[in-house]
Amino acid sequence: MGEAVWAQRKPVVLAPMAGGAGRPELVAAVVEAGGQAFLPAGYKTAAQLRNDIEATRALTGGPFGVNLFMPSHDDVDDAAVAAYRDLLADEAADLDAELGTPKARDDDYDAKVEDLLADPPALVSFTFGCPSREVVRAFRRADVTTVVTVTTVDEARQAVESGADALCVQGTEAGAHRGSFTNTTECALPLRELLPAVRAVTGLPLFAAGGIGSAGDVAEVLDLGAVAAQVGTLFLRCPESGATPVAKAALADPRFTETAVTRAFSGRPARGLVNRFLSRYSDEAPAAYPDVHYITSPLRKAAAARGDADAVNLWAGTAFRSATEAPAADVLDRLTPR
Ligand SMILES: Cc1cc2nc3c(=O)[nH]c(=O)nc-3n(C[C@H](O)[C@H](O)[C@H](O)COP(=O)(O)O)c2cc1C
Repeated sequence: MGEAVWAQRKPVVLAPMAGGAGRPELVAAVVEAGGQAFLPAGYKTAAQLRNDIEATRALTGGPFGVNLFMPSHDDVDDAAVAAYRDLLADEAADLDAELGTPKARDDDYDAKVEDLLADPPALVSFTFGCPSREVVRAFRRADVTTVVTVTTVDEARQAVESGADALCVQGTEAGAHRGSFTNTTECALPLRELLPAVRAVTGLPLFAAGGIGSAGDVAEVLDLGAVAAQVGTLFLRCPESGATPVAKAALADPRFTETAVTRAFSGRPARGLVNRFLSRYSDEAPAAYPDVHYITSPLRKAAAARGDADAVNLWAGTAFRSATEAPAADVLDRLTPR
């Protein structure tokens, strides 16, 4: 049972990292080194996820989790999406790329749940919403531990209500998307304020995510009541990470000095290094996820292929300066409190 997973392993969890970084090699390396890890399911089909689960299992016999994106039920202003698309036309021309077309907003969720129930991993975590009680119960029957990502106390209460086994508490320092239940949730609390506030309303085990850059930070969140720290950015430059070369290089480039939260790339608040695209479009990007993600996808791919760090999403948390080009086992070791 999953409770044993965090009780028996190092108190550091490799965050699920959709979009390429969190590939099976990285997940397996962290698990093999005694840490905990989540394979991302976001943006994959159920069949692609199954391939990645099998690839991970081929590299490690240890327990790992899978992270699911909840389907998006936010209202989207189609006219605002069309206007944003028009605004990006020149970017597309400059990159010799076509703008993308929005796809389904459900991320193949039902098919993934069915597939995971048939052949489950040790844990399943959920982001961008709260799973139904039925889904949580079905995973419990399959002996899977469930974790819900929360960014406010209210979301924590809803997650507890769903019957989840644990919560991942995400502070505003976190790299990439805020895992809030809706696209418009205001959730700007730093981890060291949010964690005690969530602790006050539930006794469930808590993972703490956002801006973790050292073993001292991990020790601090453990002192605040977490069972483990969930870390993304510090693993991005590892050789096992599937982050693009341009994203890896940017994390170490002195030209990039700060991070900010933006909807410019995906239509949902996400933290990344401040580059030209982020500065230019943050004020105009609509709250439309994953529509904007799909529209900008070909631009981001074209820019990454050219090595143009100014037109890609450079997801990073506030501790990005502590990300080093070291094997995942070394990063895990460096983060583990003695
Ligand atoms: C490149 C990248 C991709 C991410 N993808 C996901 C994801 O697929 N699912 C998820 O729940 N969180 C995702 N996150 C957020 C992490 O779960 C976690 O909250 C965050 O990495 C913690 O902050 P840190 O990056 O400062 O360590 C991602 C983070 C990064 C940096």
